[in-house]
Order: sequence, then C-alpha cells, then structure tokens
Amino acid sequence: MLFAFLGLVIWVCRLILAVPFPEDFIFGVSTAAYQNEGAWNTSGKGPSIWDTLTHERPELILDRSNGDVADNSYNKWEEDIELLNDLGVQFYRFSIAWTRIFPDGEPINPNQEGINFYNNFLDQLTSNGILPMVTIFHWDIPESLQKMGGFMNPRIIDYYTAYAKVLFDHFGDRVKYWITINEPKQYCQEGHGEASYAPAINISGVADYLCGHNIIRAHAAVYHMYDDYYRSLYDGEVGISLSGHWFEAYTRDDEDAAERMRQFYVGWWANPIFSSEGDYPKVMKEFISKRSSQQGYPWSRLPEFTEDEINYIRGTADFFGFNHYTTFMAQNAESDDLTVSYANDHQVIFASDPTWARGASAWLSVVPWGFRKYLKWIKDTYSSPIIYVTENGFSDHGGLHDPERVQYYKQYMEALLEAIYIDEVEVKGYAPWTLMDNFEWFDGYVNRFGLYGVDFSDPNLPRKPKDSAKYYKEVIKSRRLV
Ligand SMILES: *[C@@H]1O[C@H](CO)[C@@H](O)[C@H](O)[C@H]1NC(C)=O
Ligand SMILES: *[C@@H]1O[C@H](CO)[C@@H](O)[C@H](O)[C@H]1NC(C)=O
Repeated sequence: MLFAFLGLVIWVCRLILAVPFPEDFIFGVSTAAYQNEGAWNTSGKGPSIWDTLTHERPELILDRSNGDVADNSYNKWEEDIELLNDLGVQFYRFSIAWTRIFPDGEPINPNQEGINFYNNFLDQLTSNGILPMVTIFHWDIPESLQKMGGFMNPRIIDYYTAYAKVLFDHFGDRVKYWITINEPKQYCQEGHGEASYAPAINISGVADYLCGHNIIRAHAAVYHMYDDYYRSLYDGEVGISLSGHWFEAYTRDDEDAAERMRQFYVGWWANPIFSSEGDYPKVMKEFISKRSSQQGYPWSRLPEFTEDEINYIRGTADFFGFNHYTTFMAQNAESDDLTVSYANDHQVIFASDPTWARGASAWLSVVPWGFRKYLKWIKDTYSSPIIYVTENGFSDHGGLHDPERVQYYKQYMEALLEAIYIDEVEVKGYAPWTLMDNFEWFDGYVNRFGLYGVDFSDPNLPRKPKDSAKYYKEVIKSRRLV
C-alpha cells in the first residue's frame, strides 16, 4: 500500500516536471528602489528613512554599508532593461522611490526630474513588451514624514494617497499592475516593533499595531481611489504584496499554535482585505485584547476598525501578491510573561529543522513543500484569490556558479506547478527575488539574492548572468521546468 502510494507520488512529480506552465501564466522578476537605484541625493531626490538610518546608524548594517550607490540603476537603467530582455521576462516588478516624487514628503510641487526618470523607464520597458508591475511603497518613506510619526500618524493616509495619485496620473496609462505596499509585516512589525528594518522604532506590541492599522487603511484608500477614478481609464489591477513563512506544527498538539502564527503573520493583513468577513483575524483580536487587559491597559493594543472601515477595507485587492522564501516549525509557547511584545501576544516559538538545506541568510531554509502548502492555505482561507508570487529566492555569498540557487528555483517552481495543477490554486505569475545582487537591507552586500552577479569592487558595477539566470531563462523560454 505504502509503496503504491509512493509510486503514485513519484509519478505525479515526474508528470509535473513535464507539464508546461498554463498559457496565461506570466514570468517576471523583482527589485526595489532603495536596494538598486543609488543616486540617493541627486536629481532632486530627498532623504528616505533608509538614507537616514544607514548614515546615522551604520552599526546596524552587517557590513556598515548603505544604498547611496547600490547598483546605480538610476544611471544604468537602460542596461537593466537589457538584462530583462536577456532573461525574456514578461513583467518587471520594481518600486518607485517616494522621495524622488515628493522629496520632503509634502504633497506639493512634485519633482519633475523624478517623474521624467520613471516616464523614460516605463516607456522603454513597455516598448520592449515588458509589463510593469509597480510597487508604490517599498519601505522608503520620506524622512520628513517619519519625523511626524510616519505610518504611526493617521494623517499619513492622506500623504500616501496624494503620492499615489501622482503616480496614477503620470504613469497609469502604462502600468498594468500596481502593488500598494510591500510586506507590511516586515515594515511594521520588524521595523516598528523591532529594530530589524528602518525606521527601527523598536516598541514591540504597540508601534507595530499602530503602523499596521494605518497601513491597512492607507492601502484601502489607494485601492478605492484607483477603483473610482482610474480603473475605467486604464483597466489596471491593484494588489498588495504580503510576505509569509509557512509555519508547520511541530507536533500534533501544535496545530492551533501554527495556525495562530500564520494569522499573526499574514492574516494580520490578509484577513481585513481578502476574507469574506473582513477585520483582523479573530485569534489576533482575542489574544492581544486578553493580554492587554492582563497588563493593565485600558484598551487593546491592537486598534479597532469601525464597522464602516471593515466594509471599506474588505475586498480592496484585485490580486494577492505573495512573497515567500522559507518555512519554520512552530510550537505553542503560552506563558504568564506579561512583558508587552508581539511575541508575547502570539505566544508561539518557531525554528528551522536542522536537517533542511540553508541559504546564507540566517532565516532561510530550503523547504519547497512549505511553499505549496502556503499557496493551498491562501486558496482555502481567502476563497481562492488570484495570486502573483511577487518574491521568491535564495541567498548565498555571491559568485556566478550558484547550483544551490538553481536547485532552489527548480524545487520551488515544481511546488508551484503542483499547487496550480493538483491543488488548483489560482497562481497567475511568478517573480523571483531578485534581478541582480543588491543592497540587502541589514545584510548589506554580504548576502546575495541576484540572478545576475554584480561586482561591487568595480565602480562600473558590471552585471553578469549567474547559472541561475541561465536556468530561469530556459524555463521562461520553454515554459517548463528543465
Ligand atoms: C551626495 O552624496 C555623496 C556621498 O554619497 C557626496 O559625496 C556628495 O557630495 C553628495 N552630493 C550632494 C549634492 O549633496
Ligand atoms: C531594541 O530594544 C531591545 C530591547 O528593549 C534592545 O535590547 C535593543 O538593543 C534595541 N535595538 C536597537 C537597534 O535599538
């Protein structure tokens, strides 16, 4: 019986390797402005929180580096488009730097040089037949807005909407896919609750939920603005990119804990937007409210949406952008510790299985089945939304021969095909992270995710294809796993 079952599994796996990606499935690749553009203080650009943090607190960055120059894509953008052509991608996911449009954040007099830059870029991209997928906000908020509280100040919703309006007005004719916000979990929880990303507020269990509350409302406001005024003109799609590690129960008794962690990680954002009932996940509301009252708070540290807000936010996405890299084993850790923190709210601990292959980043193990499970979970939990995988990738320490990355992509795309053909998940596109080696946030230039290698010791920053770029190119060309 067992052997028959194993035989079937192997047969199905072989089949998956031979089967092509669906005809309407599109291949792309992902980047972000601060990690690639450089030119941090030219052409009218103002400082973002990443400029400020890397300059003022270099000790937080593994190699004390910054994105002042990065890949210099601001000047080498034509060469970047050649790389995209070489790969043969159908779409390119990149972000616009808020501080190139509104240098000091104030929503008056947009910076013409910034608008020209993205106009030229979009023209060239679309004339090469590549669909732009544009992230409106990929963590680099203007420093001056941060001084007023950034996303912890509800007024940010108006600032962010005014900024998005300029993008829709100037670029909407060419942009098919908009992503409002990249990874609010990392930005709010790890950048406000912790100090693992800018703006490094480091007030866990409070600042993270404030940031989250305004970011979800800001997302919804921009979605509605597009829906009300731009959709009929441009017929584009608007979504959000949420990151998720898969959390697998460590023992059978940990099923609730693993699900609770998924809700605290991705449900925090997805439930208000993608679920049929809207609002924060029930388990988050219950756990945070109970903990807050035990701690003596007169309110729950998780802010509440009004009934109107719940309805306003629900359904505000045409697609689910999903960023996924890895999996953890999760274990229940309910305790009496009353320290105020996100971890004490969810009460789950998680770790990698030591037998899993590892990337260079401390958190990254290779677990393709977790990817498939996550895609199935999204389908089941949120009534089968259209999904674009907007990030997926593997880190090493550089070099053009990267067999581990090739293996990672092969296995993860295999899991993706299984999700599409066996689990019937509506995945419509895939964009690896990332086009080329870049400034990898707190990992600086130490950990590399690129399909193209960049020689950072050469001032010309030459790009060269890695084996993984050649592999991905073949997959795109044949539309099958090779
Ligand atoms: C821009 O920053 C560089 C350092 O990255 C500095 O050398 C240069 O003087 C600055 N330029 C302006 C116009 O401030
Ligand atoms: C964040 O806060 C923790 C605990 O309060 C502290 O140990 C840590 O040094 C802080 N990190 C930074 C980067 O400020």
